[in-house]
Amino acid sequence: KDGFGASKLQFTAIAPVDAAVDKLTVPAGFTWQPVIRWGDPLFNDSPAFDVDHQSAAAQARQFGYNNDYTDILPIDGSKDRRAVLFTNHEYTNENIMLPAGFDAAETRAIGRAAHGLTVVELERKNKNKPWSYVKGAGLNRRFLTDTTYELDGPAAGSALLKTTADPSGRAIKGTLGNCSGGTTPWGTILSGEENFNGYFAAPGTSDSDKRYGLTSKPTARQWELDDPRFDTRNPGYENEANRFGWIVEVDPFDPASTPRKHSAMGRFKHEGANVIVAKSGHVVAYMGDDERFDYLYKFVSAGTYRPGTTAEDRKNNLTLLSEGDLYVARFTGNSAPAEFDGSGKLPADGAFDGSGEWLPLVVGGQSKVAGMSVEEVLVYTRLAADKVGPTKMDRCEDVQPSLHTGKVYVVCTNNTDRGKTGKEGATEVNPRTLNRDGHIVEITETGDQTSTTFGWNLLMVCGDPARNPAAYFAGFPPSQVSPISCPDNVAFDSVGNLWISTDGAPSSIGYADGLFKVTLDGADRGKVEQFLAVPRDAETCGPVIHDDERTVFVAVQHPGEEGTFADQHSYFPDYVAAGATPKPGQARAPRPSVVQVLRADA
Ligand code: FEO
Ligand code: CA
Ligand code: CA
Ligand code: CA
Repeated sequence: KDGFGASKLQFTAIAPVDAAVDKLTVPAGFTWQPVIRWGDPLFNDSPAFDVDHQSAAAQARQFGYNNDYTDILPIDGSKDRRAVLFTNHEYTNENIMLPAGFDAAETRAIGRAAHGLTVVELERKNKNKPWSYVKGAGLNRRFLTDTTYELDGPAAGSALLKTTADPSGRAIKGTLGNCSGGTTPWGTILSGEENFNGYFAAPGTSDSDKRYGLTSKPTARQWELDDPRFDTRNPGYENEANRFGWIVEVDPFDPASTPRKHSAMGRFKHEGANVIVAKSGHVVAYMGDDERFDYLYKFVSAGTYRPGTTAEDRKNNLTLLSEGDLYVARFTGNSAPAEFDGSGKLPADGAFDGSGEWLPLVVGGQSKVAGMSVEEVLVYTRLAADKVGPTKMDRCEDVQPSLHTGKVYVVCTNNTDRGKTGKEGATEVNPRTLNRDGHIVEITETGDQTSTTFGWNLLMVCGDPARNPAAYFAGFPPSQVSPISCPDNVAFDSVGNLWISTDGAPSSIGYADGLFKVTLDGADRGKVEQFLAVPRDAETCGPVIHDDERTVFVAVQHPGEEGTFADQHSYFPDYVAAGATPKPGQARAPRPSVVQVLRADA
């Protein structure tokens, strides 16, 4: 039995792939091809990609680097022939992007232009054929470091967010560290600003600088040499870093729209945000703060969703993430704390499980944190949460509700510091010390999604069962699963199976990262089947599962990132042979790309 009914996408799991293999491995009967690659020209005036002669001006008109969150939304009225693809560009790997000795200032400018977001139209001949991107299409758009984002919600205009360049505290240039995300029921895209601290030099002395990892060291990319706002020690820019670390909302169907940052959803290292409409009509977003020992959050909209598609309905829905209540999670186990010795072995009651509460930070427009205003809670959300006693988690990455069951899946990727001297040890919800492999929490809200209490259990404790006796798959026989480690992004297929992409397996279990299907119900609950493996040094992002069309899309991020330009680890996806002349638009260097995996007979 396959999930909640049979998916049309049937495959035989691939064997785990050695981490040194520079190949995209797909199941028998499937093939793959890129949809779009780093450097592909987006507009009619975009230069063709030439890796040996790249420029910032060219990069600003081309697909960016290190695609992470990806979604593909059909364009109404196109008879399944056109769609719009969104992806973000989390960071850059200058060490493998550009030849050694490339001009330093131009290198920094290219790096900046390769960050941000891309919206691009796709087309195909018919429903059974692969997608291609459309150069020069009307919806194509690059969001760069000088694109203006409107900050909305209760903290917009706060003195904590003003700079000399933006005395309004509402108009922010750029988005940084965009990691995972989500797609709303009203057809917009959410993107999480995650490791924004790495782009700022700062005093590094305040409680907030320390809590958000802002330091006085020169940054890795040294953009502070080009623009004073990237050093918050500069007069007038003390608040610049407060303008990052938000959830961004983009309307991919309106190329003239101003993207927004939602202050009501709090500021931390946002992995992403995933939305579900509760029975009451309120919209609930689940959000992880991806840092060791940081927290899980949820946002409940003040307004309610309108399912119609009129202009009035859309206008209403576009306001839903601008105002609402913010909570942080506390988990309590139901087994004796002494049972958790850090090994990850099951407790005597046979389950990692218990109850939980959503602790209020802001409710009804009022701060629920002693000594902090609403603006302070939203700008310094980590400091606010610290005061109310939430549970320190093992790096929450994607947190996604199943639209089939309403259960919420919290992906804890790993936490190699758990149990180290001075750090919190194992508990029922984070049961392993030196947790290299990660685990997944399954939450069942008590009432609808707006409830302030919940039940929980661990769906899986990841690892390679051949080497790790604690690996646990909801009771499914460990000998019959694909080894899986460091879960990161998740998606659901049309029948409710969970798909998990991983980031970090090479350093934990020695296999390449990949994409895995997990059955969630019936006799096969907990069965993990590997669908693909990514090339050397890459992580698997996206993913998008169109199983009715027997097609899967993944964003292959940072292939070959441990190499150098002269000594590349990966040649994905062009695979130009040594000594061969690349065809126009190809490169003998790795290119982060969105790829589609489809039936070889499609
Ligand atoms: Fe960018 Fe939390 O991964
Ligand atoms: Ca228990
Ligand atoms: Ca991630
Ligand atoms: Ca990642």
